[in-house]
Amino acid sequence: MKKRFLTAAAAALCAVSLAACGGSSTATTAAETQTSEAADTTAAEADAAEEETAAEAEETEEGGTLIMATNAEFPPYEYHDSSQTGPDGSDIVGIDAEIAGAIAEKLGKDLVIEDIAFDSLIPELQSGKADFVAAGMTVTEDRLVNVDFSDTYATAVQSIIVTSDSEIAGPDDLAGKKIGVQQGTTGDLYATDDFGDENIDRYPKGVDAVQALVQGKVDAVIIDNEPAKVFVGDNEGLKLLDTAYAEEEYAIAVKKGNTELLEQINTVIQELKDSGEMDSIIGKYITAE
Ligand code: ARG
Repeated sequence: MKKRFLTAAAAALCAVSLAACGGSSTATTAAETQTSEAADTTAAEADAAEEETAAEAEETEEGGTLIMATNAEFPPYEYHDSSQTGPDGSDIVGIDAEIAGAIAEKLGKDLVIEDIAFDSLIPELQSGKADFVAAGMTVTEDRLVNVDFSDTYATAVQSIIVTSDSEIAGPDDLAGKKIGVQQGTTGDLYATDDFGDENIDRYPKGVDAVQALVQGKVDAVIIDNEPAKVFVGDNEGLKLLDTAYAEEEYAIAVKKGNTELLEQINTVIQELKDSGEMDSIIGKYITAE
């Protein structure tokens, strides 16, 4: 029995995948061709719907897309570089993008990278709009309430950037100073706890916080060490303090309870580590001092 109407899901799938829906409706019988144009359309739609059901079932195993959400303002983990082509064909490259590319390849899916605000990443997972988040995201107790994390793939520290002539020499000197952070990051959360909300200036991108420092609007920036190095290298008159502010670990996040994808991601992470591929991805973007 043919389905009469396209399900909403099938229709949505048609909208994104011509190949899946443009397929043959040659199965239309002679009787069906005799009917009115309106009925014809219904038959064609029904055929399409039938194919869609198959395509949908197939999608859970192989084919289809895998949507990664990130905030591509975080070199060397994810950033835009118009001179390169990333794993999803866009200009988003970096360590996380390459790990995601390996995951998609392993699952036989096409990677799509969504670049959104950092503090929208977890809601994007929860609403099911993205399959996973790879964003140099630190595993924290609070985040574990809302998402599941993969095995960790990198360690990081929160670093402090100041101007070259600054008297701030370590975390203790930050009391009462204006601190710039990227909104919603651990740098933001920890600094707010330690130094008070009134001393924190939040910016949509880490680079905006660094710009504020260059312009003298804030006294220091707290941000992950790798992007910190990139930003200090890109701007004159800034330095990175030796004393780190906090240590943490990065992992990939999935929607709570999505154990199937989580296990697949962990398998790929382990394979990348065992084969040495993880080291070469990291080595490509981070030069050892
Ligand atoms: N590690 C920090 C955190 O999890 C900052 C991550 C920022 N990532 C980004 N893609 N902008 O909060």
